[in-house]
Amino acid sequence: MLLRFLVLGALVFQVECYFSEEMYPEESKMQLPTVVFAIIARNSAHSLPYYLGALERLNYPKDRISVWAATDHNADNTTAILKEWLTVMQKYYHYVEWRPMEQPTSYAGELGPKHWPNTRYEYVMKLKQAALNFARKRWADYILYADTDNILTNPETLNLMIAENKSAVAPMLDSQGAYSNYWCGITPQGYYRRTAEYFPTRHRHRLGCFAVPMIHSTMLLDLRKEGMKKLAFFPPHKDYSWPYDDIIVFAFSCRAAEVQMYLCNKERYGYLNVPAKPQHTLEDDRLNFVHVHLESMIDGPPMHPSRYVHVFPKQRDLMGFDEIYLINLRRRPDRRDRMLFSLNELEIDVKVVDAVDGNALNSSDIKLLGVDLLPGYYDPFSGRTLTKGEVGCFLSHYFIWKEMVDLQMDKALLFEDDVRFQANFKRRVLRLMEEVEQVELDWDIIYFGRKQVNPVKEEAVENVHNLVMADYSYWTLSYAISLQGAQKLLNAEPLSKMLPVDEFLPIMYDKHPNEDYKSHFPNRNLEAYSTRPLLVQPCHYAGDPQWVSDTETSTLWDDDAVRTDWRGSHKTLKGAAPAPDMLSASYRDEL
Ligand SMILES: *[C@@H]1O[C@H](CO)[C@@H](O)[C@H](O)[C@H]1NC(C)=O
Ligand SMILES: *[C@@H]1O[C@H](CO)[C@@H](O)[C@H](O)[C@H]1NC(C)=O
Ligand SMILES: *[C@@H]1O[C@H](CO)[C@@H](O)[C@H](O)[C@H]1NC(C)=O
Repeated sequence: MLLRFLVLGALVFQVECYFSEEMYPEESKMQLPTVVFAIIARNSAHSLPYYLGALERLNYPKDRISVWAATDHNADNTTAILKEWLTVMQKYYHYVEWRPMEQPTSYAGELGPKHWPNTRYEYVMKLKQAALNFARKRWADYILYADTDNILTNPETLNLMIAENKSAVAPMLDSQGAYSNYWCGITPQGYYRRTAEYFPTRHRHRLGCFAVPMIHSTMLLDLRKEGMKKLAFFPPHKDYSWPYDDIIVFAFSCRAAEVQMYLCNKERYGYLNVPAKPQHTLEDDRLNFVHVHLESMIDGPPMHPSRYVHVFPKQRDLMGFDEIYLINLRRRPDRRDRMLFSLNELEIDVKVVDAVDGNALNSSDIKLLGVDLLPGYYDPFSGRTLTKGEVGCFLSHYFIWKEMVDLQMDKALLFEDDVRFQANFKRRVLRLMEEVEQVELDWDIIYFGRKQVNPVKEEAVENVHNLVMADYSYWTLSYAISLQGAQKLLNAEPLSKMLPVDEFLPIMYDKHPNEDYKSHFPNRNLEAYSTRPLLVQPCHYAGDPQWVSDTETSTLWDDDAVRTDWRGSHKTLKGAAPAPDMLSASYRDEL
């Protein structure tokens, strides 16, 4: 009887609800899937602040994320940095598991911190497996593996990967060269196989998410999918006969479980460092990372350190020069900031000089400075005469030569403000200048960055690595100059017969093809050399979306009314850039 009454009551209640005018809240939204971040860190003090910065900026609710972090065998400050970060972050993340191992600092049989004996592979496999076990035990929906030199600068990366709804998926990461975190082919023995798809994918000539036999370094696994139950990093599959390497063991495991790996390259997600060679030191590794970091400032999205990790100021120096100048137009603070940032990362001290802004000069100012055009000068490609930007640029270089002579500086180094640095820039400069000194080379200028017009013709300098006698070239991106060189350039009195500074220098070392121009400068005895490969390149070329030239896009030097736009001048065209073998791998890939 009681039961019947209750049932009836419920029915009445339901009917009442149905007819009620009252508003009820909508069903609340689903929470996002839960994710485990697996952090396995070793000797990565140089990249950790950026790695952790990128993780903390991922656009995903932190209370849906658990962090599993292990660190071991460190010879650097990795443990302290990671601990500093986790101590702050544990209140934001759902849960933090922390597994530090301070001792020993190396593996048995290890020849150096970048060498991988089997003991090390095995330990890493076990760590990855432990992270996977942790995620499974906590019923996490996803696990994200990311090596500590993989910087996910795009904060949407996690959401984008989840949206692909794949069992195993990786965001394609960019590096300074062709290297990335996937293979398109694998040999029957489990080694890397070259394929026709690799480069079009790497260069994003084809975009999408592609089935590939190997993803590594950074990947997201969807643990809810049935097939994932069988996957393992350790122990290797019972039929395993491929190389003893954690990434290959895992790729085999996926294959055996019929789980397809996918690689996505639809967007830019971040960067990874090219793996160091076994004989490399931690310092080599750090310098490689600095290079990727500087590249990220140009191609973006750039890296930023974590706000919760202390970053120590750099010790800068002048690399043996009396002064290092950065010529920057005040109205281009973006370029100045990037250059100052880059030079700081490279631990190089610099003095910013405000470039003479050609566009702010009117024709009477120009006359007052004693500037006059070289009779008969025309730009070789456009047929125009000098622009105000070119006058400003010439004066900027000229005033530096003058300062050097006034202060009797032995040698100085100049940078214009739109350069990208070759990997290991500072080390290469130090080695070069040391060798130049050793052989007592009589030099006036040494180009670090320019456009070679005839690269094949240039003769190598004996007993100095990577140095040639400079032939005709364009651009003055960067060069070292000696006191004697500055004096020779001033003695030529170039203001009263001005042409672009990058044409003036080749005249002075007697390699300019135009006899008429040369006839105005009788003492063409500048001793000019150039590094090969070049140590800096321009960041942008004419035709690139970001390209703005301050010299070639400006008004004509003696006419304030005519605005000129020389975007198409051959001097700045990408196609006419230096021969590919002069360029670093990343550069070559772009051409
Ligand atoms: C190591 O890192 C910790 C925490 O970031 C810091 O307090 C310490 O000074 C660092 N030591 C060195 C030698 O960098
Ligand atoms: C994701 O993939 C699974 C199969 O693995 C499928 O059942 C599911 O409907 C997919 N989800 C979405 C949102 O497409
Ligand atoms: C050129 O600019 C200067 C200031 O830089 C000014 O004094 C002068 O009057 C200007 N001359 C002309 C012709 O506009």
